[in-house]
Amino acid sequence: MSKILVIHGPNLNLLGTREPEIYGHETLADVNAMLVEQGRSAGVEVECRQSNHEGTMVDWIQQANKEFDFIILNAGAYTHYSIAIRDAIAAIQVPVIEVHLSNVHTREEFRHKSVIAPVVMGQILGFGVDSYYGAMAVAIRKLKK
Ligand code: DQA
Repeated sequence: MSKILVIHGPNLNLLGTREPEIYGHETLADVNAMLVEQGRSAGVEVECRQSNHEGTMVDWIQQANKEFDFIILNAGAYTHYSIAIRDAIAAIQVPVIEVHLSNVHTREEFRHKSVIAPVVMGQILGFGVDSYYGAMAVAIRKLKK
């Protein structure tokens, strides 16, 4: 069975109460339940993790190389400056889809730059929770091919 790892970065544990006008009212548990169900109905195993720590995320990305077939990553603020996460993605063979709930290009200037963008397969952003749904749909389709 194919396995997809979903990694949520810093502050995404606060989904539902964190700036709901930007990030919506659904909690991280709601998002994860949706993704696990989306995978299950397609015969794909989905594991979801969240960390506020850059090094932990680097460890997970490295380890995923042996254990997972796809990574869906919302690196949160690390997206904009973590060369360590970028290098971890570049070091593995597993394809990564970059996700953001908000449309970072309509927000502050510092969010316009993604240092991971050059090393991911593609980005899905600006659709709220549906950004994750879209990324999962893409990953599942790629795995079925
Ligand atoms: C985010 C956008 C980032 O700029 C921000 O730091 C986040 C969430 C998003 O999902 O829209 O933590 O990645």
